[in-house]
Amino acid sequence: MIQIAVLGYGTVGSGVVEVIDTNHASINKKAGEEINIKYVLDLRDFPGDKIQEKIVHDFNIILEDPEIKIVVEVMGGVEPAYTFTKRALLAGKSVCTSNKELVARHGAELLEIARERNLNYLFEASCGGGIPIIRPLNSSLTADEIDEITGILNGTTNYILTKMTEEGSSFEEVLKDAQEKGYAERNPEADVEGHDACRKIAILSSLALGRQVDYEDIYTEGITKITADDIKYAKEMGKTIKLLAFSRKVDDSFYAMVAPCLIGPTDPLYSVNGVFNAIFVHGNVLGDAMFYGSGAGKLPTASAVVSDVVDCAKHLHRSIMSFWSSHKLELTDISNSRRRFFVRVKGDPAADLARVRELFGDVEVVTVPGLDGEFGFKTGTISEAEYKEKAAELGTVINMIRMRRVKAGR
Ligand code: NDP
Ligand code: HSE
Repeated sequence: MIQIAVLGYGTVGSGVVEVIDTNHASINKKAGEEINIKYVLDLRDFPGDKIQEKIVHDFNIILEDPEIKIVVEVMGGVEPAYTFTKRALLAGKSVCTSNKELVARHGAELLEIARERNLNYLFEASCGGGIPIIRPLNSSLTADEIDEITGILNGTTNYILTKMTEEGSSFEEVLKDAQEKGYAERNPEADVEGHDACRKIAILSSLALGRQVDYEDIYTEGITKITADDIKYAKEMGKTIKLLAFSRKVDDSFYAMVAPCLIGPTDPLYSVNGVFNAIFVHGNVLGDAMFYGSGAGKLPTASAVVSDVVDCAKHLHRSIMSFWSSHKLELTDISNSRRRFFVRVKGDPAADLARVRELFGDVEVVTVPGLDGEFGFKTGTISEAEYKEKAAELGTVINMIRMRRVKAGR
């Protein structure tokens, strides 16, 4: 029997207990041994809950119990999760986690500690909820040089944008709903300001490229500036708005970015709605691959965490290879990255389009019936730096949304 401990009995932690309970027989068969939850660490007690007799409040009980071989860290946050994880690994226990904040910040170091001790630090649930993406990057896409990862990597924001688009719901109302469903972070600012997606693209890029991508270096915008009027323009253009996180190779360097983007119906990410996530990967020999599934929530996330527990159980004294060195990858500035921009400006096309064309060249005008005193336009392909300069010179921009273009031939 393999004894495990779960740190944190919240949304994901209670899901882990439920998944192990529900699929006990098949999980044990796949792990090759019976998996038993011996302890659940939490700040609170859970009177009447089936795990109440397993609740402990002191991490040292878990640390000092030689029977515990695998620790599941699903508390969230950097501290004390970092200290607990490090101490568990140093004490010879493998660790599985859904904590992307911790993985993005200290993943390379914790992986190294695990490797040195023939243990595992696994984090399948840290990106894309229940979607298998970490394991494919580590062990399936190894023949390729990955030159692009683009993902809808946050379930909460995709849920919000979908409900705003399809049902005309208000931002605040849908965010509350996402929180009630257990999708959002404890501080939902991490979701809506794009920080969560930023950490996830940093993790995926670090694994794909084998070097440390610091999330602090990634240009990040969230969805808080997206309004019902922006969505009206998107519909007018036959497009939809998604929060995309991407890292991309240009010449010999990489840049990464998180921002809301307009995408069209021929884009494989167009139909990824609600809490679903999708990750599009391009490799130099593979071409395209896409991974799709539930991006957040109790059971999908717990499914990914428990898959890591099974992997740890199957590799109790052997480190599963992963390629993520602490050697930093310097990202290039986004200023030179090129794309089309959709821009909303104050004014009237009859009076103000000439000035727009003077600055931006031959633009395509977009108007929405009923939206007076403003109009929109799509620029040609220009760099971020050029856009910034021209927009400042124009001085009447209400909002700008980047346009994603799927490369020809894909
Ligand atoms: P919750 O807030 O629901 O659960 C965290 C639990 O850990 C709470 O019960 C909390 O107790 C407990 N806890 C916090 N600090 C400590 C501590 N120092 N000692 C003991 N217990 C502690 O969060 P989630 O389950 O939603 O998320 C957990 C992690 O998984 C986070 O890193 C999150 O980003 C990640 N994640 C979440 C997903 C989701 O869909 N929810 C999906 C993928 C990843 P208390 O409530 O009393 O503070
Ligand atoms: N808050 C996160 C999301 C949880 O909405 O995607 C899954 O990582």
